[in-house]
Amino acid sequence: MQRALTGIKPTGNVHIGNYLGMIRPALELQEHYEAFYFIADYHAMTTVNDGSVLRKFTLETAATWLAFGLDPSRTVLFRQSAVPEVCELAWMLACQMPVGMLERGHAVKAARDDNREINAGIMYYPVLMAADILLYDSNVVPVGQDQQQHVEIARDVAQKVNHLWGEDTLVVPEVQVRPQVAVVPGLDGRKMSKSYGNEIALWGSSKALEKRIGRIVTDSTPLEEPKDPDTDNVFNLYQLLATPEQVEELRSRYLAGGFGYGHAKQELYKAMESLLAEPRERYDSWLAQPSRIEEVLEDGARRARTAAARTLARVRGRAGVTPLT
Ligand code: ADP
Ligand code: TRP
Repeated sequence: MQRALTGIKPTGNVHIGNYLGMIRPALELQEHYEAFYFIADYHAMTTVNDGSVLRKFTLETAATWLAFGLDPSRTVLFRQSAVPEVCELAWMLACQMPVGMLERGHAVKAARDDNREINAGIMYYPVLMAADILLYDSNVVPVGQDQQQHVEIARDVAQKVNHLWGEDTLVVPEVQVRPQVAVVPGLDGRKMSKSYGNEIALWGSSKALEKRIGRIVTDSTPLEEPKDPDTDNVFNLYQLLATPEQVEELRSRYLAGGFGYGHAKQELYKAMESLLAEPRERYDSWLAQPSRIEEVLEDGARRARTAAARTLARVRGRAGVTPLT
């Protein structure tokens, strides 16, 4: 069976862009792939320095996967840091990766845009991410568009290593980005992102969700006039959630006029609420029993470690470093 793998950093509230762009597509892959999904806590350390905050975000991120239907009896859910061997593979890959390429990486650019310090961890980000992917012989990596470049870097380094040490040393992964949800827009129409503060969080009360949707930026077309659905942020989010019939129905109401953005926001709220109401209950119930989440993560770590050991034994042998017995 082919393997699907992806990760998400525990750095704050998981949002609807994460869900539509990555979590939902990844969960669909569970049906046809052996799925390895992890919480990228080492990557989060480039920005989160408080251990208790990191632990909290990690449990919340794990609970999010479980709430949306990750099946831990099939899918391997684990903390990145439960398999520290990933750092060893990262070192071996780093020795094949030009610094110039790392400097052009998305994580460095994002830090520069936010005026954050570019620590060495941020520079090393794509190296560790390539190790995440290659350590588990991943065939397909579902991500949102912003991560595509990092997966391509992993492909390039895998090809380079195979050229050096033998064609079957590493599996060359395929990136999977769903075009309709590659860049889910946030409140202001830019990419939804925690770092822009324009996200709609998945969790919280339905009242808070409604309030947040109320803050989506719209233009000043008066209520009576027809409106262009395709340039409107509310409509653009709605069409990612609703059925094709519902989308066509809303489109004709926009075009007819006499339908305000306040009405449109109510429709979006209803669609989101029906998507989130049941998962919200499951999320709360998982979080109320953190030891159950830990059990899932421990079992996942054991399975991930077995797969990792196999790859590392192969790579170490070919690299000419100490073979582990
Ligand atoms: P953020 O940008 O909010 O910090 P992350 O970097 O933690 O989000 O992203 C986790 C996953 O969700 C990645 O696969 C990323 O590509 C995807 N993702 C994040 N934001 C969006 C978005 N607005 N649209 C589509 N996918 C997204
Ligand atoms: N960098 C990814 C993000 O910010 C998270 C991540 C870490 C990841 N390692 C990965 C995603 C490996 C896919 C595969 O979203």
